[in-house]
Amino acid sequence: MADVDAAPLPAPDPEPPARPDEFAAPHIGPIEVWPPVVLAPMAGVTNAPFRTLCRRYGAGIYVNQMITARALVEGHRKSLELAAFAPDESPRSIQLYGTDPYSIGEAARLLADGLVDGIPVDHIDMNFGCPMKKVTRHGGGAALPWKRAHYRKIVQAAVKNAGDVPVTVKFRVGIDDDAITFLDAGRIAEAEGARAVALHARTANQLYSGHADWRRITELKNAVTSIPVFGNGDIWEADDALRMMRTTGCDGVVVGRGCLGRPWLFGDLAAVFDQRPVPPHPNLGDVLDGMVEHAELLCEWMGEEHGIRDFRKHTGWYLKGFPAGGEMRARLNRVGSLEEMRELIGSLDRETPFPIGGMRMVRGHSGSPKDVHLPEGWLDDRDDEVAMPKGAEQLVSGG
Ligand SMILES: Cc1cc2nc3c(=O)[nH]c(=O)nc-3n(C[C@H](O)[C@H](O)[C@H](O)COP(=O)(O)O)c2cc1C
Repeated sequence: MADVDAAPLPAPDPEPPARPDEFAAPHIGPIEVWPPVVLAPMAGVTNAPFRTLCRRYGAGIYVNQMITARALVEGHRKSLELAAFAPDESPRSIQLYGTDPYSIGEAARLLADGLVDGIPVDHIDMNFGCPMKKVTRHGGGAALPWKRAHYRKIVQAAVKNAGDVPVTVKFRVGIDDDAITFLDAGRIAEAEGARAVALHARTANQLYSGHADWRRITELKNAVTSIPVFGNGDIWEADDALRMMRTTGCDGVVVGRGCLGRPWLFGDLAAVFDQRPVPPHPNLGDVLDGMVEHAELLCEWMGEEHGIRDFRKHTGWYLKGFPAGGEMRARLNRVGSLEEMRELIGSLDRETPFPIGGMRMVRGHSGSPKDVHLPEGWLDDRDDEVAMPKGAEQLVSGG
């Protein structure tokens, strides 16, 4: 039975191949990023096992999951576990979330001093894009850059305390169309010593709906001139990265949902930037082998009970568009052990070809626009002093 939920997004015309020397490697401080591709931080997804799979397909930067500054500073064991790296991982890149300059600064210093596994990180990204109600209603996430002075202090604290470790900043276009923040966010980050910025070209109000507005990336590139600008939003296939860089002039791309259940997308991206043909898509058998390996890595990392539970969300992404059947999908959503998973997928036809348009089937978040909840009077003054309300820094996921 076909995956009924899996109509692909329309495919744009193919891009002409990259020309020799058409693209250069952007630098994030001392880190040369080639191909110019960054795995987007995705809470609950971009942990060490997932990054291990993705890194196999090419270099670039693979950002760890977001961790909350305050939790790090307070030494929460769970946050340190989330922040772990694979032993061979380089560069070690991680994202921080916070709303208060003190805890962000302390967290940056701890990360630069080797809090995680006793080894300093190589790159710290900061998250100002979270659109979730429980975060924005306290003035956190995508609501925060509206308060320019406060945002500036946070970036300043991170850059100063991170020392030689380069800090980058990731944000959205704004809160909604009437409260646009990205140009200020970019200029302030640049002025305060961030080494690159990344724009998810949607407002918080859009969540993940509609299309990312790549024209905003062009605007940011025109406004931020001394550090690399990375574009983010709707890179589903390797050609999309060429298209985004050509149409916006950005220096590199950040890839989120496109690699969910499709870690080989990074191989396709490496190919187009290195002027090689994109490898053929895997058939179902290859995808299932990757899926099992991913589940095994997760189980090794967090123990089988947690690992297999955590893996359930990936099963739908891997099988998106394949004729696996509703019953199979439902059972994989409840799968309780590696053994059970191997048995279940053993009945699938491994020779099934990759679905037509399978890369452009939306995975991860989608949904429709929603009003952004903000603290009372938040939009009245962009430059007032902010006492961040309690709760703004609670553990969050999403960007
Ligand atoms: C499951 C999931 C978790 C996410 N978590 C974070 C996060 O922790 N930090 C962040 O900056 N963005 C987060 N994002 C947003 C992505 O980094 C990215 O900006 C967004 O998905 C748009 O890029 P895309 O169109 O390539 O997916 C998350 C997205 C998804 C789908």
